[in-house]
Amino acid sequence: MTARRGCARTVAAAVAAFATVLAAAACTTVGHRSGPAASACSDLVASPTLAPPPVDPEWPVMGFDPYNTFGDSADQAEVVGIVQVMARNGMRDAGYRYVILDDGWQGSRTAAGQITADPGRFPCGIQRLAAYVHAEGFRFGIYTSPAPRACSGRIGSGGHVAADARTFASWGVDYVKLDWCGSDYSPSGAAAIARTWRAALDATGRRIILSINAGGAPSVGLWARLSVNSWRVGGDICGSWYNQTRPPSSTARACYNRQYDEGIYDYLTSPGVQAQEALSGPGHHIDPDMLEVGTMGKSAGGQDLATYALDLAEAGTNFAIWAMWSAPLIAGNDPRTMDGADLASRILLNREIIAVDQDPLGRPATLVVRQGGWQVWRKPLVGGRTAVAVVNLADSAAEAFFSWAELDGSGQPATVSDAWSERDVPVDGRGVRVQVGAHATAVYVLTGR
Ligand code: GLA
Repeated sequence: MTARRGCARTVAAAVAAFATVLAAAACTTVGHRSGPAASACSDLVASPTLAPPPVDPEWPVMGFDPYNTFGDSADQAEVVGIVQVMARNGMRDAGYRYVILDDGWQGSRTAAGQITADPGRFPCGIQRLAAYVHAEGFRFGIYTSPAPRACSGRIGSGGHVAADARTFASWGVDYVKLDWCGSDYSPSGAAAIARTWRAALDATGRRIILSINAGGAPSVGLWARLSVNSWRVGGDICGSWYNQTRPPSSTARACYNRQYDEGIYDYLTSPGVQAQEALSGPGHHIDPDMLEVGTMGKSAGGQDLATYALDLAEAGTNFAIWAMWSAPLIAGNDPRTMDGADLASRILLNREIIAVDQDPLGRPATLVVRQGGWQVWRKPLVGGRTAVAVVNLADSAAEAFFSWAELDGSGQPATVSDAWSERDVPVDGRGVRVQVGAHATAVYVLTGR
């Protein structure tokens, strides 16, 4: 955590406390037709109402979280606007079903110890918002921390685990993102926290997915796979190809810290991620953090630019390899800017790559070739098919030939489909010649022999 962010967090906490006082009466006007709160709450009526599908922890979660675009400042109007767009722009239908509130939603605790939302940002409360999200056909997720303070400085759940779990369940929460700032990162301490949360959520009787960020150490996966649905395997993602390994691009998004924040290349080449990928399976997935597909670059002064943080090739690699890893696909762009032909639409709505992520076999990908600037990842799919991803890590376009033995571990497949174009490609008896742009990834789905 950088000093810069810590400062923003203190200010945010003070603003939240002040807003609690100012807006205490706002939600008492819900249902009336006058006043700012009434008009804000009249947005929370879904039309037509659609039941969300049941929560199934077996699959990697797909959804949206505002953090990569909005930091910890998202509010009800933004979330509602985004839900409306996702219900109509193809995202909901493609499987992006979880709408998750990240850090920054919290207000204060009541005298009785009940956690509440920041009434300035969420004037109608979380229960009302969750009901709206459900009625639009989505599931609803929320952020908290095991410590008394969350990473933003707003309140966490420390000392209130059982009560907050009950509150979340009563609000209709389907997914909890449990962050770790100020908590115990030791393997035994962190594992105990995760088990306590799992038990508290189970005790509510509601099915709730638990996603944790207990740091990116490889030791986390060893215990986390037994108790939680997904666990972070690295620091905060940032919108840049490089950050830790080499300096970030000049328009990188949120690459504050060269040790903690990770670019796409850093994640791809992380030995800890490669080791932990083997621990994933149905119901327990690695989490290399949320997608940077379609997030905007930032100027040195912190302003959003009109250019993307990752180019088309890099964003495609972010998406394709997260899918190969059976990782959660949590969009971090602003879906309101998607128009069907932009970078985010072209990548996030690719059905063949989504199907690789959501494959019912739930088998992890393995790195089968690491040679020069190339990586080849292989993931077995249901029905004897195989997904193969060829990544060009180099800073310029390259060409190479890979034999079927290298790609598939066996002989010539019957059919080969290019996942990006969603078209079959001619099958050569020996293997495939790939031409891949700088930082891009070719993805093939191979059917049996
Ligand atoms: C940490 C997490 C992020 C985000 C922020 C919110 O940095 O890793 O994903 O939730 O906290 O403050």
